[in-house]
Amino acid sequence: MGKVRFGIIGAGGIAPFHIYSIRKAGGEVVAIADPAFDRAKKLGAEKNLEAFDDYKKMAAKKDIDVVTLCIPSGLHMQAAVDCMELGKHVISEKPLEVTLEKIDRMLQVSKETGRHLSCILQSRFFDNAARIKEAVVAGKFGKLTLGDCYNKWFRSPEYYKGAGWRATWEMDGGGALMNQAVHAVDLLLYLMGDVESVSAYCETLVHPIQVEDTAAAVVRFRNGALGVIEGTTSVYPGEQRKMEIHGSKGTAILEGYDTLRKYEFAGEPDRSAEFNKEEARGGASDPLAMSKDTHSRQFKAWIDAFTAGKVPPVPAAEARRSVELILAIYKSARERKEIRLPL
Ligand SMILES: NC(=O)c1ccc[n+]([C@@H]2O[C@H](COP(=O)([O-])OP(=O)(O)OC[C@H]3O[C@@H](n4cnc5c(N)ncnc54)[C@H](O)[C@@H]3O)[C@@H](O)[C@H]2O)c1
Repeated sequence: MGKVRFGIIGAGGIAPFHIYSIRKAGGEVVAIADPAFDRAKKLGAEKNLEAFDDYKKMAAKKDIDVVTLCIPSGLHMQAAVDCMELGKHVISEKPLEVTLEKIDRMLQVSKETGRHLSCILQSRFFDNAARIKEAVVAGKFGKLTLGDCYNKWFRSPEYYKGAGWRATWEMDGGGALMNQAVHAVDLLLYLMGDVESVSAYCETLVHPIQVEDTAAAVVRFRNGALGVIEGTTSVYPGEQRKMEIHGSKGTAILEGYDTLRKYEFAGEPDRSAEFNKEEARGGASDPLAMSKDTHSRQFKAWIDAFTAGKVPPVPAAEARRSVELILAIYKSARERKEIRLPL
């Protein structure tokens, strides 16, 4: 099998991360499409890609196996459905979509067409996140008691002015949680398992936007553990994300993408320092200050699984979970009551 060939849909902020990461992961990037054709042409010329003004024309090309969606979140469903029907596998940026109805339609078309549908949730692919997951599976935490994620980020007024779709219910699906903290929420679910119920407050305290810039939720996991989720774009200057997993026999604290602050289990010393390598920068204050490398591990895992004939990560059904939990948090805040999952 030759290299897996990719087309990119959307030539905005995240697209260069895809081009860089796919190439680093051993894939071939062939083309880019954007109705703002100047953008597609400019990025295409810089990165040596054929440019299109319409993703359907690009997806009709025979020499493309997979398309990646780098377009506003509320447009993911339509583009994914169109491209799967044209025979392409699809890797969507996060969140997979902004409503469960749209996600379920995507899942249905993936099943009908037999095309893979995956979602970029790159935080899962860092070494120490994977190390904590292995420790959970091996039972090293004993009984899991608390799982927390703190995504106290900042976004500037310029960030919101930079693209009209941001911070709108229709196209962004929410604010600090649905756009920024979705990675942390995904990782929390990946490590702690599903949530049974949630009570939350969501407020818009700083930015003149439709959606929340400050959110706090308390969750009860199905395994009985409790936890806290905080997400903001209102906390200056923006802190590194923190994940804290605790049990009767162990604690792991992960900061940023991959720095362990604690990794200690009963009968073993804290080994966190041993496992820390050079940190990949996150997007605590500025989304585009994120390391280019954050996506390459997931693209490598995707390409390896695909070429081996396996289901590539992260499958759409998995990516649905964080959207469902965030929607439950919004519902709890709106209705001022505890919400039980599934919705
Ligand atoms: N994984 C991450 O860490 C990460 C980081 C940033 C953004 N994202 C996600 O990436 C997606 C895009 O975000 P962005 O910041 O790059 O947005 P952006 O506004 O910078 O760029 C979006 C681009 O999509 C184009 N577009 C709009 N409709 C289109 C269509 N029908 N066909 C093709 N192109 C179309 C726009 O013209 C624009 O060039 C969002 O879902 C966002 O949540 C993920």
